[in-house]
Order: sequence, then structure tokens, then C-alpha cells
Amino acid sequence: MKKWFAVIGDPISHSKSPAMHNAWYTEMDVDATYIPIRVEPANLREAVASLKLLGASGWNVTIPHKEAIIPLLDELDEQAAKMGAVNTVVKMADGKYKGYNTDGAGFVRSLEDAVGTVHRDKPILLIGAGGAARGIAFALLAGGYRNITIANRTVMKAEAICEELGTGQAVSLVEAENKLHQFAIFIQTTPAGMANGTLNLPFSLEKFPQDAIAADIVYNPLMTPFLQAAEEKGATIINGLGMFVHQGAIAYNYWLGHYPNTSNTIIELTAQLK
Ligand code: ATR
Repeated sequence: MKKWFAVIGDPISHSKSPAMHNAWYTEMDVDATYIPIRVEPANLREAVASLKLLGASGWNVTIPHKEAIIPLLDELDEQAAKMGAVNTVVKMADGKYKGYNTDGAGFVRSLEDAVGTVHRDKPILLIGAGGAARGIAFALLAGGYRNITIANRTVMKAEAICEELGTGQAVSLVEAENKLHQFAIFIQTTPAGMANGTLNLPFSLEKFPQDAIAADIVYNPLMTPFLQAAEEKGATIINGLGMFVHQGAIAYNYWLGHYPNTSNTIIELTAQLK
């Protein structure tokens, strides 16, 4: 029987997930379809009940429902519970719907895809302490990375994540700025530099080290002010597209039991966004 998947969010029309997943089904000869569904926050409960009733094989969850959906699911993966957010729902063999989070793992895959194996002791600076940073922090820890510092405008939020992680150091943006040279990998997770955003880089890169790796989770535009500044300092830069494609590929694997080809997808989406 044909399987069907969806992505729910609000707004949803800009989402690149339907085209990406449908292209994978065609390429991998999978009899399935994937549709975008706009769900306003007030309708989330009914929308989830409908998806279950109509027998969706799974769906992705995007802004603003990643946290609110948790109590509406039948089961929750342990990592997703720690992250406090779900971006993927899977219909299990017993018909129950289980929530997972593939965003953080998608980031770690994109990092390792771009630069190969990374030494697990390398000092990492995570900039920002919102939902995206939290997911990445847990995925880094699960991947064995143990030298994590979180810098945030509101230091208390960085402290809260470190406490939950059971490791890591929380610093202010100013403290981070003053010891930038001590880090090897930088991960920018604030909305600074988004296409329609008005934010500037949250801090100066004056003390940026040589031979660093700089990643941004934003992919539209592909080149953010942070990546631009890091590249000028000689860093290897990683835009947010790999994270987006890999979070989708990991979800696809949860649903269908095999991985799609991600490198072609990254090349195609890069060409579209340039
Ligand atoms: P997401 O879920 O996408 O991570 P979020 O939870 O709204 O989004 O988190 C946004 C992050 O960007 C936070 O770390 C936020 O800092 P605060 O915790 O201090 O609010 C950061 N951020 C947003 N605007 C910022 C700005 N103008 N300067 C510095 N940091 C900013």
C-alpha cells in the first residue's frame, strides 16, 4: 500500500522538505508521497488526531510545534525527551506514534560529512542557547564530543543546558569573544544573518583562531555574516544546508529503513539557493 508522510508547521509553504522527500522516493523507487500541511497552533491537537486516524506512516514537525506536540504522541524517544523537542514522528509496527528528534544528529552528520572524522576532544563553541542549540548539544554529547562551551546573550539559558547535559561550560558572549582563540569548532545557532532577519553577528571575530571550523545552522542565505567573517579568517566553513538534508535523511531512515543519497540533494539545493 502506498505510504504517505507530511510536514506540519506554520508557516509551511516555504518548506523544502516535500520536494526533497518526494525526490528521494522517486530516486529510491519507494511507493510513497509527502505533503506539506499548514497547522495553526490552536489546531495542533486535532491535526495530530487526524494524522493518526488517517494512518500517516509518519510526519515531520517544524516551527512552532516541535515542543507542543510532545504530549500528543503515544511514545517518545529518550534523546528527543532530553532535547524537549520532536521533529519526526514515526508510526511503529504496533500502530503507536513515536516522536524522535533528528535535527541535532543531522548537524553532527553534516559536520563529519564536511570535514571527516573530528577529534572528540576538540574544543567546541556553541553560540546560542535556544532549541536548536539544545538539540545540537545533546547530539554532540551522544556523538562522543566532550569539550563543549555554550555562549549566549542570556547566560542562564546556556547554564541550564550545561546542567541538563551534565557537562560543558556556560559563558557570556563577551567572555566568548575574549577567548575565541581557544576554540577549534564554532557552531552559530542564533538567527543572526537570516535572509529576512535584521540581526547582526552577536559578537566580533577579532580573536578568531587559524584553521578553525565554522558552522552555521542557517541555510538561507547559504553565506551568513558569521560564515563570511570566519572565511575571511581562513576557517573551513559549513552552511546549514547539510544539517537540513541530513535531518531529513535520518527521518527517512526511521520511516523506511534505509538511507537516501544525500550528496546529490545537497548539490541540487545549493544550486537552487545560490
Ligand atoms: P531556536 O529554537 O531556533 O534555537 P530560539 O529558541 O528563539 O530559536 O533561540 C534563539 C537564540 O538566538 C537564543 O540563544 C537567543 O539568545 P537569548 O537566549 O539571549 O534570547 C539568540 N538571539 C536571538 N536574538 C539575538 C540577538 N539579537 N543577539 C544575540 N543573540 C540573539
